[in-house]
Amino acid sequence: MARSPVEASAPGKVILFGEHAVVYGRPAIAAPISQLRATARVAPAPSGSGLTIAAADLGARVRLAEAPADEPLACAARLALARLQAAEPDAVLSVHSAIPIASGLGSGAAVATALIRALTGYLGAPVALEALSALVYEVEKLHHGTPSGIDNTVIAYEQPVWFQRGHPIERLRVGAALTLVVADSGMPSATREAVGSVRQARARAPARYERLFDQVAEVVGLARQAIERGAAPTLGALMDRNHALLAEIGVSSEALDRLAQAARRAGALGAKLSGAGRGGHMIALAEDDARQAVAQALREAGAAHVIETTVA
Ligand code: PMV
Repeated sequence: MARSPVEASAPGKVILFGEHAVVYGRPAIAAPISQLRATARVAPAPSGSGLTIAAADLGARVRLAEAPADEPLACAARLALARLQAAEPDAVLSVHSAIPIASGLGSGAAVATALIRALTGYLGAPVALEALSALVYEVEKLHHGTPSGIDNTVIAYEQPVWFQRGHPIERLRVGAALTLVVADSGMPSATREAVGSVRQARARAPARYERLFDQVAEVVGLARQAIERGAAPTLGALMDRNHALLAEIGVSSEALDRLAQAARRAGALGAKLSGAGRGGHMIALAEDDARQAVAQALREAGAAHVIETTVA
């Protein structure tokens, strides 16, 4: 039976508070960036051709039957088929992503989410959000090694979330919309390496790191209250505090510190690195009338790319 093409998408994300400490059981807060999306489309192919995965942005095209086990797109497709106990369809699955790669904006998880949505939709059995998130978590292990699960959760649910490993996810109520300016430091950030280096540092000084993670957790708890109350100035100060703790944890960089400082000088209420750090992105919280000045200051301070987004 010829099936109709199916298209699906998933957003990028930012971690607002709590990265790294979240790997060690502390809570974190993340929000989707709905204007940056990954999309996947599945269309029928001639009988006997099997499933071909085409990643237009990467210029890659691979038949599922020939893809290595650790190829993330093939891994996502295999997990989806296994979940449905479905045979490989004769189809072409094309993925496309507007989310920068290796920069802390969740490109890997978004591509996997869109792919699984499109493929399970094509096969007539779309998976529910919780199962979708769990499948993407399995793919994330290829990128991350030991992911906390926050990326797949915020991306699958496409809602601001309070996330703590081993606890049910909580959707956050946002008291007043937050304007974020998101800047790319221009340096790629390998999450697996940043997470690995924190693991090594913690092994050398466990008490110090547990204390730092507890301090992050306290900031995250206060940030939740500020988000729910719509208290932007308090939230900005908490971002600065979280950034300072991330620098102590050892994942900031000269470029990220410089961008955060430039944003604050231009009138941002607060700024911090977002995601794994070392490189990748930083975020600044700005009131509406300071938004453009902050974006401009970030460009002048060397940001490779700047976007504005709203968390609501
Ligand atoms: O994928 P990234 O770069 O946003 O980093 C994820 C955040 C970490 O806390 C560093 C890792 C994790 O698995 O939560």
